[in-house]
Amino acid sequence: MACLFIFFSVLLLTICSAFSSSNSDTLREGAFLSVEKQDDVLVSSNGIFSAGFHPVGQNAYCFAIWFNHPLYNYQNVTSRTVVWMTNRDEPVYEKVSKLSLQKDGNLVLTDAGRLVIWATDTASLSPAFLYLHDNGNLMLNNSKGVLWQSFDSPTDTLLPLQLFTKSTKLVSSRSESNFSTGFYTFSFSDNNLLNLIFDNSEVSSVYWPPPWLVSWEAGRSTYNNSRVAMLNSLGNFSSSDDFTFLATDYGSILQRRLRMDYDGNIRLYSRTNDGAEWYVSWEAIPDPCKINGICGVNGLCTYDYSSGRKCSCLPGYKMKNRTDWTKGCEPKFNPSCNRNDSKFIRLFSVEFYGYDYGFFPNYTLSQCEQLCSSLCNCKGFQYSFFNTGIINCYPKKLLLNGYRTPSFFGDLYLRLPNSYHLPQEKTLEEFSLECSDVTAQELNRTYSKKHENQSVKLLLWFVTGVGGFQLICFVSVCSFLFIRNQREARDHIGGYLVAATGFKRYSFDELKKATRGFKEEIGRGSGGIVYKGVPSDDRVAAVKRLNQEDNQGEAEFLAEVNTIGRLNHMHLMEMWGYCAEGKHRLLVYEYLEHGSLKHNLSSNVLDWKKMFEIAVGTAKGLAYLHEECLEWILHCDVKPQNILLDSNYSPKVADFGLSKLLKRGELNNSRFSRIRGTRGYMAPEWVSNQPITSKVDVYSYGIVVLEMLTGKSPTTDIKAVDETGKTENRGLVSWVRENIKGSSSDEIEPSLEKIMDPSMGEECDMMKMAKLLVVAMKCVEEEKGGRPTMSQVVEMLQDNH
Ligand SMILES: *[C@@H]1O[C@H](CO)[C@@H](O)[C@H](O)[C@H]1NC(C)=O
Ligand SMILES: *[C@@H]1O[C@H](CO)[C@@H](O)[C@H](O)[C@H]1NC(C)=O
Ligand SMILES: *[C@@H]1O[C@H](CO)[C@@H](O)[C@H](O)[C@H]1NC(C)=O
Ligand SMILES: *[C@@H]1O[C@H](CO)[C@@H](O)[C@H](O)[C@H]1NC(C)=O
Ligand SMILES: *[C@@H]1O[C@H](CO)[C@@H](O)[C@H](O)[C@H]1NC(C)=O
Ligand SMILES: *[C@@H]1O[C@H](CO)[C@@H](O)[C@H](O)[C@H]1NC(C)=O
Ligand SMILES: *[C@@H]1O[C@H](CO)[C@@H](O)[C@H](O)[C@H]1NC(C)=O
Ligand SMILES: *[C@@H]1O[C@H](CO)[C@@H](O)[C@H](O)[C@H]1NC(C)=O
Ligand SMILES: *[C@@H]1O[C@H](CO)[C@@H](O)[C@H](O)[C@H]1NC(C)=O
Repeated sequence: MACLFIFFSVLLLTICSAFSSSNSDTLREGAFLSVEKQDDVLVSSNGIFSAGFHPVGQNAYCFAIWFNHPLYNYQNVTSRTVVWMTNRDEPVYEKVSKLSLQKDGNLVLTDAGRLVIWATDTASLSPAFLYLHDNGNLMLNNSKGVLWQSFDSPTDTLLPLQLFTKSTKLVSSRSESNFSTGFYTFSFSDNNLLNLIFDNSEVSSVYWPPPWLVSWEAGRSTYNNSRVAMLNSLGNFSSSDDFTFLATDYGSILQRRLRMDYDGNIRLYSRTNDGAEWYVSWEAIPDPCKINGICGVNGLCTYDYSSGRKCSCLPGYKMKNRTDWTKGCEPKFNPSCNRNDSKFIRLFSVEFYGYDYGFFPNYTLSQCEQLCSSLCNCKGFQYSFFNTGIINCYPKKLLLNGYRTPSFFGDLYLRLPNSYHLPQEKTLEEFSLECSDVTAQELNRTYSKKHENQSVKLLLWFVTGVGGFQLICFVSVCSFLFIRNQREARDHIGGYLVAATGFKRYSFDELKKATRGFKEEIGRGSGGIVYKGVPSDDRVAAVKRLNQEDNQGEAEFLAEVNTIGRLNHMHLMEMWGYCAEGKHRLLVYEYLEHGSLKHNLSSNVLDWKKMFEIAVGTAKGLAYLHEECLEWILHCDVKPQNILLDSNYSPKVADFGLSKLLKRGELNNSRFSRIRGTRGYMAPEWVSNQPITSKVDVYSYGIVVLEMLTGKSPTTDIKAVDETGKTENRGLVSWVRENIKGSSSDEIEPSLEKIMDPSMGEECDMMKMAKLLVVAMKCVEEEKGGRPTMSQVVEMLQDNH
């Protein structure tokens, strides 16, 4: 009986302790917090802070400390403000992961039950306990005192009363919602000064305090090597290097946090205990363009209050990676060492700080030009006046940290090869900085359960990588979906969308004038009519005026335009700008001299060589749409009218992207099913209710190639022979099939002559034409699984065997 009593008491105790471990502020030895239980968190006794697992992706978690909002409410993930994290670069899986306080006093975070991701490496003979203090400090104590505390290893946030020392630093996160390690660090330097450093592994530089000030000019002292700083709870920050500031709301009792933000600024935020919005009560750098590295190498930052901070590439340079400004810009020309092959263009009020070959006082402009020309790697020079009346010359090895500000008395002279002609000197290619910040979205990780116990870490790493890549594609290509999903966010960024769009916004009047009142029609498509025009920048453009009845809202339109504008491939038509004004929606494209493939086919101007190159180029353009970003852009309307030819008859695919952006899984939704291609070119899936994949474009492409080879249009020249009468396009395909029946691919050439357009000419390379025919026939397989992908098509056509 006694035994049973003891047993039940123990059981009860265990249950109680298990319960108390969830919502209390303390974790006892031998206990753990599980990622699977939402209530497995420590809550500080004042209700302000919680410590527990915080989701950073669909099924990925980090162990974190956050501000609750409202007090004691630790459950609402969106209202949390995370201040600390253990494993920011290595999230753990949503199942079986846990944080355990082992009997030996070691605090261990394990992923999926096995792999140790992080540990305090502490040991204790007396029982240890983990405790979340009212000030947000997570402490591991035993009877003797503190074994470990989170205040010693901050992430990106410093809390009031948390000592900032020579061994601690704040490192920004990657972006607003991506918590992994970013590029900006707040720490004490070797000469005892608190500073801000940009470091992206390629370049590293200090930008605060301003490097051109000697420390005492910045009000700093290098003599006190104790290197400590602290923010008190009233809002007074003071450091051993004499740097000090008071919050604008100094004195009030508020929740406060000092954060190294992902944009490179360090800010103090405050809010009241009842958890109203955070507001900024101090920031280190009022002019955000002075933060280093934001626009990358050869990038230029401009700032104005209405549109915020923007990056652009210097004239003659282009963005290296359209999704990432920190990668900067690269030259469009071949840099040359030849001193005779240099010209300089002047960029007013632009300053690039640092990376000089030296400082040459009292140089004339031509002396400075000669100096820079004679230095092989000189990228340009800064020519600056100071109030002494002397003009200084600073030749630059590297153009980094550039910004334009009217208050700067000096100009940058950019070096370009003589032969390089700037397309348009005035308008720089501008993008809002937020482009790269938007890459922040939740990571969607998928695990294969079977392999969990094997090399989970490897898998994790791999999946994180793939997830990240998909994510970036998803964000950059399908940004409109992102925006749709984030209706709340949209209100905030309504204004920013305009800036985020990386090209010119034209006014309706401007385009009306440019096209002389929409006079010269050059094409007509499902979405609208295309006119020729010459907008203010003197380039001939094709202006597409979208049908008014189909018009979507402005935000959605801009999001789509933004997406299309970022696609950049020599076989895709380039978009220069757009207009969204009232009911009007217009798109401005480059104008292509030779018009559409349709037009060229009917006028018989293409010989077999051009045909072949057009087939290859079109395939490359489509392959780019399909593969480079994982099948998220389907064209859905591939036809000769939508393949345009430039002055060299090089093809460019047009009319992609609008209202046709999709995401895997959304392929069958109602929005999509409304979309149709053009009769004659449509794959059988469209009518048979099968899922729509990139193979619909492959099919249409096959038809286009057959049309090129035979000179027969699938819509008019051959009438439907399909007894079901469902679609007409089977006409051309079955006609070709009839004619080449029985020929193996070796002997396809004789039958080729029967179907080939006689206007192709006599000296036609039959090998190549046969290859085209074979590929086209594969593309028009009824069964979509039998068709190749667009990149396989490119390979097959380019294969020389
Ligand atoms: C969670 O917090 C967000 C932001 O504060 C709020 O909009 C939302 O209503 C909260 N959700 C719940 C279930 O309380
Ligand atoms: C942990 O140890 C520190 C230092 O001895 C002490 O200040 C703190 O109060 C202890 N925490 C608890 C909950 O005992
Ligand atoms: C802020 O703190 C520093 C150092 O503790 C002190 O010298 C200074 O007087 C304080 N400022 C105010 C306004 O309290
Ligand atoms: C160095 O700074 C610390 C913290 O601000 C201060 O306590 C100490 O007195 C300073 N030492 C000297 C020599 O100024
Ligand atoms: C651009 O950057 C993203 C993320 O860093 C990367 O996944 C992608 O491969 C890059 N693209 C190119 C063309 O380098
Ligand atoms: C540059 O021009 C000068 C004078 O015209 C000539 O002597 C010199 O060889 C040229 N240098 C190069 C590298 O072409
Ligand atoms: C700058 O150059 C001018 C003319 O070359 C000369 O008169 C002047 O003394 C120079 N100033 C200095 C500070 O070298
Ligand atoms: C994440 O992936 C899972 C499984 O692949 C899927 O069911 C889920 O819809 C995805 N979530 C998002 C937000 O993409
Ligand atoms: C966060 O950024 C890092 C570095 O670019 C990337 O590897 C990771 O996949 C991103 N994670 C999420 C959740 O976006």
